[in-house]
Amino acid sequence: MNRGKLIALEGIDGCGKSTQAVLLADALRADGHDVLLTREPTDGPTGRRIRAMARSGKRVPAFEELGWFFEDRREHVVEVIAPALAAGRTVLTDRYFLSTVAYQGARGLDWREILARSEGEFPLPDAALLFVLPAADGLARVETRGGPAEPAFEQADFLEKVASIFAALDLPYLVRIDAAGDVDEVAERTRSALAEKLRA
Ligand code: TYD
Repeated sequence: MNRGKLIALEGIDGCGKSTQAVLLADALRADGHDVLLTREPTDGPTGRRIRAMARSGKRVPAFEELGWFFEDRREHVVEVIAPALAAGRTVLTDRYFLSTVAYQGARGLDWREILARSEGEFPLPDAALLFVLPAADGLARVETRGGPAEPAFEQADFLEKVASIFAALDLPYLVRIDAAGDVDEVAERTRSALAEKLRA
């Protein structure tokens, strides 16, 4: 059996990737794909610890936070992603290692080093869909859905830094998608950009 495809959805808070992940999963299923939709931070023990920290707004030192995200991803890859790929399934993950590159890079860690380590350790995505939106627009969307749920990460100057690292990435598997506009428009852009990438 062929290895399935791994597709990551990435972007700043409020960029709309979680909504698009659901729509993309539906569209791929309608085309006959066996899709697994999953997310990071995960619902496993390390992921739950990360979410609790993010909600509390109390940050741990950057290197420790980095360790938590790597640990959560290791568990995710071993327990969920790798078995699904081996079974030929299409895996959509709402956030993957480029989130660590951009977010923990924005905390002042060396993002190039995080990227090199990640590419060395984790399966490379066949496509990483990056939903591009100015930080101010992402934050405005976060506000309309009830304010920052995760004050540790959802702050203007911090999200600007995250966005600037995402903007600096130049990777063969990275596909940028303009996340401005209405949901259906962005969904259509997402489907066609992915189809083009997987054909290439
Ligand atoms: P998010 O996708 O916003 O989760 P939810 O849908 O539950 O709100 O992710 C939570 C936060 O974690 C988000 O602000 C980004 C941050 N994050 C990192 O800092 N590094 C990472 O590696 C990942 C996966 C997420």
